[in-house]
Amino acid sequence: MQTLAPSPGRWLWTCRAGFEPHLYEELAWADAAPRLLGEALVESTRAPPLAPAFARQGMRVLASFPLPSPGLSADALARLVAAQPLASPLVLQAFTPDTPSGNTLAPQADALVEALRSLLPAERLLEDAGRAREAGARLISLCLAPGLAVLGEVLAREALSLAPGGRRRMRREADAPSRAAMKLEEALDGLPFEPGRGEVCVDLGAAPGGWTQRLVARGARVIAVDPAKLMPELAAHPRVRHIQESAFAFAPEEPVDWLFCDMAWRPLEVAQLLAKWGRRGWVSYLVANIKLPMKDKNPLLVRVRHILTEDGGWKGLTVRQLYHDRDEVTVTAHRR
Ligand SMILES: C[S@@+](CC[C@H](N)C(=O)[O-])C[C@H]1O[C@@H](n2cnc3c(N)ncnc32)[C@H](O)[C@@H]1O
Repeated sequence: MQTLAPSPGRWLWTCRAGFEPHLYEELAWADAAPRLLGEALVESTRAPPLAPAFARQGMRVLASFPLPSPGLSADALARLVAAQPLASPLVLQAFTPDTPSGNTLAPQADALVEALRSLLPAERLLEDAGRAREAGARLISLCLAPGLAVLGEVLAREALSLAPGGRRRMRREADAPSRAAMKLEEALDGLPFEPGRGEVCVDLGAAPGGWTQRLVARGARVIAVDPAKLMPELAAHPRVRHIQESAFAFAPEEPVDWLFCDMAWRPLEVAQLLAKWGRRGWVSYLVANIKLPMKDKNPLLVRVRHILTEDGGWKGLTVRQLYHDRDEVTVTAHRR
């Protein structure tokens, strides 16, 4: 399937393949006039004030080229980048839609961006994307899709992710009991603060223990709440207390620092539980994974947001389908 070209000045969004209708709906509800361009790619006229939950990355389109195109070269891209009134440092990235046909284009996209990098003055380039936000940098991305190349830009501070196309790849630790640990690491990556030594974390729906293990590795103390069993070495860990009961029956003895939740349970009931923690002042920071197995996901998310902010008093709410999320989204928030 060929990809439709986005217009310069509009926004290009990429999402998990199959989630285009949900992203499209969010953009339509935000009056951003979406258009489906191809697999995992949606265009809109503007970036909505509330980041779309189902977008992995968004960028303002600088130019697009049909492929194959004799006009597409590293020189042409360098001229386009040089023509931008960009005072800030640049981070150059390449991505493709996360689809089988998109992935075959990755080597070509990487090679073009590498060639582009060699044509731009080194002092304008920031190599370490991890520093992009504090350095006030812009992400300049080349997206190669079947039949189309798009060059776009977004301020790192406003970007949904610092990873190319929002695909935050990481290696699964050999001793990780579940894929879930990567969801937690990706969620913590996006936060300006993280749980540290001596802090107390409650982990609701903790078994078999992927999240608890990552929190313990950061030096935190963890109260792991789950009727199911934890990995034996975690259950016996001196900084882990396993409460083998339902999260709906649990209350902390005193306020804690962080609430984590990855419970496989109905989203509205989970949201109400998280709202109770916020309202009662039991915790300061929240990271929760909300399962969305239903067809109509956006109406549910509207209700989840409302419950967390209006009933729970949670602030700075982010709701995002991260790279490691499947039929689910990750929520972060704070009370301070
Ligand atoms: C996706 S798994 C959690 C994986 C975990 N975060 C990890 O990293 O290993 C979902 C868990 O939710 C738990 N769960 C479901 N209902 C629960 C409830 N009412 N209270 C506590 N845990 C619950 C299940 O027992 C299951 O272990």
